[in-house]
Amino acid sequence: MKVALLGGTGAVGQRFVKMLSGHPWFELTVITGKTSVGKRYGEVNWVLEGEVPEEFRDIVVSENSLESLKEVDLVFSALPSKEAREFERELMNRGIPLVSNASALRMDPLVPLIIPEVNPDHLSLIERQKELGVGPAATDPNCTTTVLTLPLKPLHDAYTLKRLDVASYQALSGAGYPGVPSYDIVDNVIPFISGEEEKVQNETKKLLGEVDGGEVKFASFDVQATCVRVPVLDGHMVAVHAEFEEEVDPEEAAKLLENFSSEPQRLELPTAPARPIHVRGEENRPQPRYDRDAEGGMSVVVGRIRKGANRHSLLFVVVGHNTVRGAAGQAILLAELMRAKNII
Ligand SMILES: NC(=O)c1ccc[n+]([C@@H]2O[C@H](COP(=O)([O-])OP(=O)(O)OC[C@H]3O[C@@H](n4cnc5c(N)ncnc54)[C@H](OP(=O)(O)O)[C@@H]3O)[C@@H](O)[C@H]2O)c1
Repeated sequence: MKVALLGGTGAVGQRFVKMLSGHPWFELTVITGKTSVGKRYGEVNWVLEGEVPEEFRDIVVSENSLESLKEVDLVFSALPSKEAREFERELMNRGIPLVSNASALRMDPLVPLIIPEVNPDHLSLIERQKELGVGPAATDPNCTTTVLTLPLKPLHDAYTLKRLDVASYQALSGAGYPGVPSYDIVDNVIPFISGEEEKVQNETKKLLGEVDGGEVKFASFDVQATCVRVPVLDGHMVAVHAEFEEEVDPEEAAKLLENFSSEPQRLELPTAPARPIHVRGEENRPQPRYDRDAEGGMSVVVGRIRKGANRHSLLFVVVGHNTVRGAAGQAILLAELMRAKNII
């Protein structure tokens, strides 16, 4: 399939480009941007490790327009949310297949918000899009929500979440490029990230909700979040305190996490990790520097699993790569799932 990438020169866009290099199903042929329109992709300010993949160097960055998307079968979006709002809606209304990383459509009742291992069944919302003659359009969640919700899934299935208190320690690349000024973040942490806590609260409940009558009934547990920016380049850490309806045994919970696998693994999708959740027993793991690249950044790493204040509560820490599992890699995995199910 020929694919386009909107916002392909930013922090997430570059990760897409790297992960689409040599992809067995998707051929990247169009890249859009704003300030870099007209440049060869090989001339953009590449901020990832290694070089710009050879096969994309001569693509000339175009502006967002329906004209530039004429020849493609699928559009990935890594646009800033403000820019995404109108354009993604227009693509959806015109029936141009879209998989987006931006928050613009995530809370639209017609649009599935998906972590491929957590709620692949929510893709059934696309039936309603078809009836209305729009889409297919699907989104993946915010990076912190992704890292948090992957391990919550098997625990929620087993014990039923009642209440969730989380604190995130978020990497600089989560703010895009150039992101937070160095003067603000070196020798410092910043206890506020605009809009992030609301995203964690709302998206977690949509992801763990159930489709009923063609719409998602949000999960009913309470969520409280504090989101903090820290001077780490890549990899978000989340400290989780989860309280469940049922009693929880930390050892059994660790086994559920370690053994968790889902549809992307059964379908052997090209970008699926063998094990989406890794568990570490050392008292000083997971750490962003050592654990963000588990299975190429597509797995999250959980550690410090222990009892909370009562028999219904569990504490743990999880780390995941925010631009791979939290953005580009997950969007590619979602598109693979949609392809495997003949939605695109
Ligand atoms: N960073 C993360 O960890 C992360 C995780 C999950 C989701 N997201 C979401 O992913 C999206 C991209 O984030 P980012 O961190 O990559 O941001 P970024 O580094 O600021 O990149 C923004 C990109 O959008 C392009 N752009 C801006 N306005 C445009 C327009 N009108 N038309 C076409 N292109 C335009 C820019 O192009 P030029 O360079 O040419 O100006 C650049 O390629 C955001 O919606 C963000 O919320 C980010």
